[in-house]
Amino acid sequence: MGIIERPRRLRSTPILRAMVRETGLEPSSLILPLFIREGIPEPRPIAGMPGVVQHTKDSFRRQIDLAVKAGIGGVMIFGIPAKRDEQGSEGLNPEGVLAAAIRDARAQVNDDLVIIGDLCLDEFTSHGHCGVLNSKGAVDNDATLEIYGQMAQVLASAGAHMVGTSGMMDGQVGVVRKALDANGFTDVLILAYAAKYASAFYGPFRDAVESQLQGDRRTYQQDPGNFKESLREVRLDLAQGADIIMVKPALAYLDVLYATSLAVDVPTASYIVSGEMAMVEAAAAQGSLDRERGILEILSSVRRAGASIICTYWALEAAELVKKGL
Ligand code: PBG
Repeated sequence: MGIIERPRRLRSTPILRAMVRETGLEPSSLILPLFIREGIPEPRPIAGMPGVVQHTKDSFRRQIDLAVKAGIGGVMIFGIPAKRDEQGSEGLNPEGVLAAAIRDARAQVNDDLVIIGDLCLDEFTSHGHCGVLNSKGAVDNDATLEIYGQMAQVLASAGAHMVGTSGMMDGQVGVVRKALDANGFTDVLILAYAAKYASAFYGPFRDAVESQLQGDRRTYQQDPGNFKESLREVRLDLAQGADIIMVKPALAYLDVLYATSLAVDVPTASYIVSGEMAMVEAAAAQGSLDRERGILEILSSVRRAGASIICTYWALEAAELVKKGL
């Protein structure tokens, strides 16, 4: 036949395939997002996301335990308050649901898990936007920045190792860095949601945080058709002191993730968002695909595209699957 190169030779047995696999998945690179809801007696399921719930203090505590046992890298905490207002003031309450959850988690694990607090106002505002509104009803960038600076201090004081700046306000990383440093939190890291698109795939999350949003976030989150704009956002966040760069969502933006990971010299993260999870769960539930293989394949794709860190609702399960060598 005259065939000199036979790539199939490298695929002959499982152990050989494992030996030459280019992409690994370590549990320590996975981050589990967790929702904690003030004032509920029992955990509340979230539509479209099997196994994901709004946690009570108790069930939250158990998840933190499981996260440490699974050996995953961190948890990303979202707080859902009982009361909201125009300014999102509960986000700044040192005794509020988010700060309290961070404080509890840190007391529970100290440095055995990276505790990340979501630094954004959308869970706390009565209108559901990621910032405060001006008199015309538009999201006021600079007024929001002042609040983000205060919120950074609240989350860091509560014990967050890292804050996730997910609001897509211009200049947010710089303001947060400055506020942290001015208050002695020079070691608190910033996970910058640098490239974050206005995505339909945040659907189930809006349910998870009982979002009050009317309309959309297109004046601050990016247009799905754009690529170069992400490189610009990344450049700006790096210049302002981002420690880790995030591209979000993951699956619909693997090209952006890939380009970004090659362009920067900091770790790159991506977030497999609620709707991306829901797609797989729905397909698996109707018998269209093998769920566990599907999950690992998706995680590998995000890894391959350059994310050294992956935020995923499947983090605990994926850690187990990886150990099983599935
Ligand atoms: C906003 C925020 C969102 C998500 C994480 N942070 C929603 C949004 O921007 O509308 C979505 C995550 C997901 O869908 O899993 N602070």
